[in-house]
Amino acid sequence: MTEDTMDATAGLIARLDAAETEAAAVRLRHRSYDLLDLSPGASVVDVGCGTGRAVAELHQRGAAALGVDPDELMLATARRRWPGAEFRTGSAESLPLPDQAVSGYRADKVLHEVPDPAAALAEAHRVLSPGGRIVLVGQDWDALMIDSSHPDLTRTILRSQADSRPNPRVARAYRNLLLDAGFHDVAVEAHTGIFTDPGFLPMVEAFGARAVTAGSVTAEQGAVWAGDQRFRARHDRLFVAFPMFVASARRP
Ligand SMILES: C[S@@+](CC[C@H](N)C(=O)[O-])C[C@H]1O[C@@H](n2cnc3c(N)ncnc32)[C@H](O)[C@@H]1O
Repeated sequence: MTEDTMDATAGLIARLDAAETEAAAVRLRHRSYDLLDLSPGASVVDVGCGTGRAVAELHQRGAAALGVDPDELMLATARRRWPGAEFRTGSAESLPLPDQAVSGYRADKVLHEVPDPAAALAEAHRVLSPGGRIVLVGQDWDALMIDSSHPDLTRTILRSQADSRPNPRVARAYRNLLLDAGFHDVAVEAHTGIFTDPGFLPMVEAFGARAVTAGSVTAEQGAVWAGDQRFRARHDRLFVAFPMFVASARRP
């Protein structure tokens, strides 16, 4: 693992930590657990588990939960935070599980990072037992909204942010991907998270900084944009909206 990769993971962990205890994020996670329809003896794989909170929460709900992630720093953090829980190295496209091993599959804010989401869903189909439930949660990066005094710059910055992901619009395709992979009873919900707390300023500033690094805006434009967001955060005027999709289905 290079120093750059470790820095990127550490930054992602800090952003996830800032968001995951927000009331809207807690509600969304609990909705995803409800949609897994856990029965006694349920076994769930949380794919792209990150620092593992969902694995621990699923365990608290009585499921035998396993977290899988390709990033060793994420897994080390998860193992340190949740010592009783089980975590394994693996990717959505190649899960460390035999066929029909689990009754539940969950992937939260993951498929936009996966180069081939159809391959990931074929793998989900393989590891789920007949009747097993799959739940996908994620944002559509092209539908993110940030209030700003510089709307054109905001559009450019958000577009640059979306373009830096392998699959920024995968969440709007969840339904079709699940149908194409052979799942039944596909249902989709939308939940928009609204973030106004100044604690989200670092995440917003990071969007602007990445657009500068990508060459989408100049350093001067990035500074003007970030200055406006800092002003807003100081005066309780930060406004970020993340439309999140939650898709669920059943393996026949
Ligand atoms: C935005 S984080 C979300 C983490 C966690 N699901 C959560 O909701 O807090 C995305 C996670 O997906 C993982 N990831 C990236 N590529 C992946 C892949 N191909 N298969 C599985 N997980 C992947 C990352 O290492 C990271 O932990």
